[in-house]
Amino acid sequence: MSFSSKEIIALADQYLLGNVSRVPLVLVKGQGSKVWDAEGREYLDFIAGVATCAFGHSPAFMADILAEQARKLVHVSNIFYNEPQVLLAERLVKASGLSKAFFSNSGAEANEAALKMARKYSHDRYGAGRHVIVSALDSFHGRTMGAISATGQTRFHQGFEPMLPGFKFVRFGDVAALKEALTPDVCAVLLEPIQGEGGVNIPPADYFSETAKLCQSKDILLILDEVQTGLGRTGQDFAFRHFNVKPDILTLGKALGSGYPVGATLSAAEPSKALSPGTHSSTVGGAPLAMTISLELVNRILEPSFLAEVAQKGVFFKKSLEDLKAARPKDILDVRGLGLILGLSLNRPSGPVVAALRDLGFLVNAASPTILRFVPPLTVTNDEISQLTQGLLDALDRSAA
Ligand SMILES: Cc1ncc(COP(=O)(O)O)c(C=O)c1O
Repeated sequence: MSFSSKEIIALADQYLLGNVSRVPLVLVKGQGSKVWDAEGREYLDFIAGVATCAFGHSPAFMADILAEQARKLVHVSNIFYNEPQVLLAERLVKASGLSKAFFSNSGAEANEAALKMARKYSHDRYGAGRHVIVSALDSFHGRTMGAISATGQTRFHQGFEPMLPGFKFVRFGDVAALKEALTPDVCAVLLEPIQGEGGVNIPPADYFSETAKLCQSKDILLILDEVQTGLGRTGQDFAFRHFNVKPDILTLGKALGSGYPVGATLSAAEPSKALSPGTHSSTVGGAPLAMTISLELVNRILEPSFLAEVAQKGVFFKKSLEDLKAARPKDILDVRGLGLILGLSLNRPSGPVVAALRDLGFLVNAASPTILRFVPPLTVTNDEISQLTQGLLDALDRSAA
């Protein structure tokens, strides 16, 4: 049975929780960077499930591996060992230079594990009271209670108060503000290397190395949330490489499963000891099916030639956006980002531009009311990037009219 878009949207209005403001588009099929709606209209997708579908839509290798593993073993409890989980842990640990891995089902859960680990580590070493976690204004760490408490945007808190105690926020990129915030009750600093949902914000070059020095001097753990920026998105395996820093705890999601739900919390040796048996777990996290597909995805992403291609495409894309800015200096205030997480700051609301792009067959979303964000599949081609930048020119004209 297949429904029209109108029918699906009517059913959604009737039966789905209205927690998301949705675009009136029903997507039924995807291939590479393209998706099609229920009426057969084609779109070039520069959202990619919000920086998730690393290899684009419906890559054949994912279908093959999922089908093969599903016939072998889908899920077993974490009270048993399973081979793909151990192999993925080894791969991620060796790639990141950290020591241990814990697997969950989403970015928010990966961050929850990181927050618990940081508090428990500090509690085990220093006793109660040293539990505060400092994070950044304009950050985003997910939608669970711990993750929204750690998120430095009040719009995610409103109506859900009280937030969990023990979180404070500083301006992103401001070392002096961070230094002042590192009072004796602080156990960890939680930051995104590049703020994705906050508007594709890149900190000053020495921000992370200075932050790491401050943290080390006080045995404060540095947690980097690379749920959006990790695994190839910036043209490096992890975005922290760009900033000459190494975290104590690293969280991953999105591309890690590329649409299959997987989250990971990687940690240095000492903090990992805090989560001893019985302190934390997930029923389905780390299950063989998820781990098998994730291992294949990670192996493919970490291939140096693949990362080099992402970096090259990122340079091409950014240059194309800068050329666009030169052509439209009044419309475009700023081009920002690294690799294939790029943003355009506009001098007007981004909503009408997003809608005009959609009419032209391009899917793009807004990271803030005036910032367009581009997070295409890592397999996007230069030709597709050029089509998008041409579409942007048209969309700016149409939305100005
Ligand atoms: C930096 C960052 N952390 C955490 C999350 C939450 O991930 P999930 O939606 O998988 O829980 C996101 C999602 O956008 C994110 O961008």
